[in-house]
Amino acid sequence: MYTTLQNVLAEADQLNMAVGAFNTHNLEMVQAIAKAAGNQKTPVIIQTSEGTAKYVGMRTLVAVVKSLAEALGVDMVLHLDHAKSWDNIREAVDAGYTSVMFDGSALPFKDNILGTRRVVEYAHAAGASVEAELGTVGGTEDGLVVNPDAAKLTDPDDAVEFIERTGIDALAVAIGTNHGQYKSKTSINLDVLESIHQVATKPLVIHGGTGVSDADVHKVIDRGIRKFNVGTELLVQWNRKSKELYEAHKENVSNRDNVVPALEVVQGIVERKISLFKNIR
Ligand code: 13P
Repeated sequence: MYTTLQNVLAEADQLNMAVGAFNTHNLEMVQAIAKAAGNQKTPVIIQTSEGTAKYVGMRTLVAVVKSLAEALGVDMVLHLDHAKSWDNIREAVDAGYTSVMFDGSALPFKDNILGTRRVVEYAHAAGASVEAELGTVGGTEDGLVVNPDAAKLTDPDDAVEFIERTGIDALAVAIGTNHGQYKSKTSINLDVLESIHQVATKPLVIHGGTGVSDADVHKVIDRGIRKFNVGTELLVQWNRKSKELYEAHKENVSNRDNVVPALEVVQGIVERKISLFKNIR
């Protein structure tokens, strides 16, 4: 079913697992992510940056994800990742995205609350879910710096107040991860995550999933992470495989000969991550 973030995270919470949220850069990757979820018989969140949404077209993305969810018989959420523009958020909700993230993490606390509340009112009226971020995750996203400031970890007391005042459905926390970290693994502050988990009344989201080690995946899920964002690893492996194939093949072969094997690589990674996020030991 084509469904909301709130629905899939509620189910994940009951099962002490996380739902994978994978960044796509085009329509091709949507298929690979969807097929992986179909094979694993697990809900999945397909997320786009504002840039990808503009490139593919929001209504096109909604139509494709809806149709794949029905064809494969798994729950799928289409989520707008790290949106800062009110116009883009409104356009996504109007187009039928079932979830949006308002990223006010670089704003002062009060402004983040005000901006998030406005998004919650609009999205909830249309039946869509909202994720917001408190604290700052470092690094890059979609080639652009998400936050130039040094990462500031999420304060647990602020998290409680923020959730109460905004009415969000999920909270992205800063616990030491960085966007775009694919050459090494992050050192996660599990104590901060545990303190947030003890007091937060909404599901928690981890950003910068590429830099999280397999061993830490279980530790963070046990401490309340329910949405697990992964982007860079898919992109890097897609680019590596494509490069190799475009170089090896003649220029008049079908484009599929270069694209399909790269998609299979992406699908394999997503399946592996999804099975890890089930948190079975
Ligand atoms: P990575 O690209 O580091 O996996 O992070 C993805 C993410 O957090 C998207 O918001």
